[in-house]
Amino acid sequence: MLTDKVDASLLQRCTRLRAISNYAVGLDNIDVEAATRRRIPVGHTPEVLTEATADLAFALLLAAARKLPEAIRAVHDGDWLTWEPAAHLGAGVQGATLGIIGLGRIGRAVARRAEGFEMTVIHAGPGDRPALAELLRHSDFVSLHCPLTPATHHLIDDRALAQMRPTAIVINTARGPIVDHDAIRRALIDGRIAGAALDVTEPEPLPADDPLLSAPNLIVVPHIGSATRPTRERMTELAVANLLAGLEGRPMPHQANLLGPSQSGP
Ligand code: NDP
Ligand code: DGY
Repeated sequence: MLTDKVDASLLQRCTRLRAISNYAVGLDNIDVEAATRRRIPVGHTPEVLTEATADLAFALLLAAARKLPEAIRAVHDGDWLTWEPAAHLGAGVQGATLGIIGLGRIGRAVARRAEGFEMTVIHAGPGDRPALAELLRHSDFVSLHCPLTPATHHLIDDRALAQMRPTAIVINTARGPIVDHDAIRRALIDGRIAGAALDVTEPEPLPADDPLLSAPNLIVVPHIGSATRPTRERMTELAVANLLAGLEGRPMPHQANLLGPSQSGP
C-alpha cells in the first residue's frame, strides 16, 4: 500500500524478497533505485486510475470555486434565510486559466475536462522554472499532478504562493508534501490566495485537530482520488498481475524499473 514505506533498510532485511507490487501509481513510498540494485522488480498501477483521479481533481476545483462546503453548511445550520444576490459568491470557471503542474497521464486528463469549460490551460514540467513562475502568476486554478520527488517537495511554499493571484485556488490530488501546509495555511488566513482543495495531506491521515483545518476556504478529503469501485477493481487486478509476473520471473505488465535481460531476482 502507499502507506507502506519500502526503503533501502527494509529491502536489506528482506533477503528473500522477489517482487514488489505497489497498489498505487505513485512510487514515492518505495526506493525504486535500491530495489533495482537488488534486482527486485517494482510494479505499480498507472492508467487504470487516471480518469477517476482527474474526475476528483475537477470535482475539487468546482467545489472550491463555488464554495460548496460553505453553502452546504449554511443549509444545515439554518442560515438559508432568503435568496440573496451577494451570498456565497464563488469564482467563475468558464474561460478561467488552469495551471497544471505535471502534464502526465492525470494532468492531461484534467486538461481534457477543462476544454469543456473553455478554460485556458497552461502547464509546467520538471525543472522548468520560468514556466512555473508564469503559471503561478497567471493561473486562476493551480492543479498539482507531478510525483513527489526531492524536486517537488514543498514546491508550493511561501515563495510560490506569493507569486499567485489573491483569487487563485490550489488543488492537490498528487501527494501531500508537495504543498507546505504551514505556508498554505498562512496564505489562506491572510487572504493571499482564495482557496485550496486537498485530497492528499502531510501527514496522512490528517488529525482532526491539525492546525491546517482551521484555515478558511479549505477543502480536505481523505485521499480518495482513485476511489471508485471500477477503478479500485482494475487497480487490484493490475497489482495482482504485476505480482504474479514478478514471482514468475516475467516482466510485469506495469513495471517501474528495468532489470535487463533476465527478470529473475537475486
Ligand atoms: P505521470 O508520470 O504520468 O505524470 C507525472 C508528470 O509530472 C509527468 O509529466 C512528469 O514529467 C511530471 N513531473 C515530474 N517532476 C516534475 C516537476 N518537478 N515539476 C513539474 N512536473 C513534473 O503520473 P500520473 O499522472 O499517472 O500520476 C501523477 C501522480 O499523481 C502520482 O505520482 C501520484 O503521486 C498521484 N496520484 C494520486 C492519486 C490520488 O488518489 N490522489 C491517484 C493517482 C495518482 P516527466 O515524465 O518528464 O518526468
Ligand atoms: C496512487 O495511485 O498513487 C494514489 O495515490 C492512490 O490511488
